[in-house]
Amino acid sequence: MTYKEVLQAAQGQMGPCRACPVCNGRACGGTIPGPGAKGSGTVAVRNFDAWRNVRLNMDTIHENFEPDTSLTLFGRSFKYPFFAGPVGAMTLHYGDKYNDLDYNNILVPACAAAGIAAFTGDGTNHKVMEGAAAAITACGGAGIPTVKPWDNATVARKIALARSSGCFAMAMDIDAAGLPFLQHLDPPAGSKTVEQLKEIALAAGVPFILKGIMTVKGAEKAIEAGAAGIVVSNHGGRVLDDCPATQEVLADIVAAVDGRAKILVDGGIRTGSDVFKALALGADAVLIARPFVTAVYGAGADGVAAYTAQLGNELADTMRLCGAPTLDAITRDMVRVIK
Ligand SMILES: Cc1cc2nc3c(=O)[nH]c(=O)nc-3n(C[C@H](O)[C@H](O)[C@H](O)COP(=O)(O)O)c2cc1C
Repeated sequence: MTYKEVLQAAQGQMGPCRACPVCNGRACGGTIPGPGAKGSGTVAVRNFDAWRNVRLNMDTIHENFEPDTSLTLFGRSFKYPFFAGPVGAMTLHYGDKYNDLDYNNILVPACAAAGIAAFTGDGTNHKVMEGAAAAITACGGAGIPTVKPWDNATVARKIALARSSGCFAMAMDIDAAGLPFLQHLDPPAGSKTVEQLKEIALAAGVPFILKGIMTVKGAEKAIEAGAAGIVVSNHGGRVLDDCPATQEVLADIVAAVDGRAKILVDGGIRTGSDVFKALALGADAVLIARPFVTAVYGAGADGVAAYTAQLGNELADTMRLCGAPTLDAITRDMVRVIK
């Protein structure tokens, strides 16, 4: 099965999401609830477009090699340097086909089988984290539960639950307070101080990743809080309208962090060559969220396998054509950023 067939099968199955041939944020615009972006809806489009402004520098005069796409992150090996991003509140955003538990029960094992791992989302219902933790345990810890910044007591409960999954890393989407549908809910979610995050990072007991970092200042605070990794992310444009694209801020954050934390990035990354571009700009790995949803709705585990294989083939092809036999050999000079 090809990813194109998966997309066709997904059409009409995903509530307001049209499973577009190219997931670029244009058709869904400001559709929240739904897969769109907040306010004008333009930030998701900007994320996607910014990767189009990164061009690949071809160089095929080198030894012939079979690219090694494998990544080691926090002591765990993966076939590729990309992960399925966390997506939660499935029925709210994508209609009745799957709830969060069904979705994670398909996505988490399918990613593990494909040699990658899934970040899982969080919800007001405690059962969402329970289900995610169970799915991750069943895959030998190959998953990253992503806890929302609830009030401290709720965070403590969820972190303990996430930790019991045996996950190899844990995350918090620290920008989630900006989600329009999460405001004024119970439990409440909001910002956290560096001191509060220090306690959370300690309680995690595994490498802790802060997702939703868009500035050098934010990256410095994440590191001070003890984060072993950050995700340069604007939540797909869902938390603050008029944000820059993630590609636009990535290089500055990479330079400032200077190896003190692992750097992941998401937002509009859709192909293996986009993955290559992110690594060339200094990311260690990437997250891809919306297209994995389409993969699951279109063809379940087979859809995830098809999309992962397509991304992997595109990445390997780009590595061959730009002269990078390994991920470490992907360097800044292999891309050109058009301003
Ligand atoms: C419907 C929907 C639900 C999401 N739920 C979560 C979530 O629960 N936790 C989280 O950290 N990010 C969540 N995200 C954000 C994604 O993880 C990701 O940061 C964003 O979509 C950008 O990546 P993409 O352009 O590849 O989709 C959600 C995104 C969408 C579209």
